[in-house]
Amino acid sequence: MKKQEYIDMGIASGLSHHQIESVLCRVLELSKTELFALTQISSKYIYEVQQLFFKLQSGESEEYMLEKANFYGRDFSVDERVLIPRNDTEVLVSVMLKKINESIDIKNMSYVDVGTGSGCIPVSVVEEMRPLKFKQVFALEISQDAMDVAASNIENHCPGSIELRESNLLSGVFHDDFSGKDLCISANLPYIKDGDHKNMDESVIRNEPNRALYGWSDTGFELYRELVKQCFQMKQVHKMGEIHLFIEIGFDQWEVSRSVLEEFGLRFEYFPDSSNIERVIYITGF
Ligand SMILES: C[S@@+](CC[C@H](N)C(=O)[O-])C[C@H]1O[C@@H](n2cnc3c(N)ncnc32)[C@H](O)[C@@H]1O
Repeated sequence: MKKQEYIDMGIASGLSHHQIESVLCRVLELSKTELFALTQISSKYIYEVQQLFFKLQSGESEEYMLEKANFYGRDFSVDERVLIPRNDTEVLVSVMLKKINESIDIKNMSYVDVGTGSGCIPVSVVEEMRPLKFKQVFALEISQDAMDVAASNIENHCPGSIELRESNLLSGVFHDDFSGKDLCISANLPYIKDGDHKNMDESVIRNEPNRALYGWSDTGFELYRELVKQCFQMKQVHKMGEIHLFIEIGFDQWEVSRSVLEEFGLRFEYFPDSSNIERVIYITGF
């Protein structure tokens, strides 16, 4: 069968050339360059290709369909158990790396990622920082399902470098001995506020895990407020050095985040995403 016939089938299903190529590459296990060189494709693949065209046509995300997503230049395994890593979250990683490079001394520092999902944030940070290393690195997650996905990504990219633990916010490391140590924390927690699902993309609502999306409050900032409280408790209990906290917020959470951080008397700095909206906050002063 001619490759063009497969392409025409995809176009008839309303898919883009990019989506059609992605499906063909996945089914034939070829790179885009290898696919480009083909003129004929065996008709034995028709059923599988049609199934995937149908999934895309009915709104399934390409990343879930392909079971992989690219984040900070690396491929991560993803499926419906975890949030698909977003480009916006790359800003959080860039800000952390920039601050570490410019002004944070990591000699005596451990690093914790809270709500790790696929593990894309800690894996990227650890890999981008090489040969520099934190003393210890933890990836914390409340969902056992998500942890299974994170475990396979950690194993693929940096085996042995990140300890994965089940945890409600920081509870999973609360009893570790951080006395005298500094701590760097990253978090991209669920922050969609009550009622906002009305404005969201249908495929996100249908496919992505609720636990990864919703902050279950009228501001969406409650989990972050709790995280900030836990940072103060940890610092006090462990007589720790500095805590450096990096968080990603929603596009409309500048005001609520500012008022909560001021209420706690913290120092903070905002960083914009590619649309120039303040989406990442670097917080110190615990
Ligand atoms: C918005 S997703 C982000 C996932 C990943 N960090 C990323 O940027 O792609 C939030 C993650 O936090 C987890 N989560 C939600 N509530 C949590 C809690 N109380 N403690 C720890 N993790 C939590 C969810 O299961 C989900 O995996």
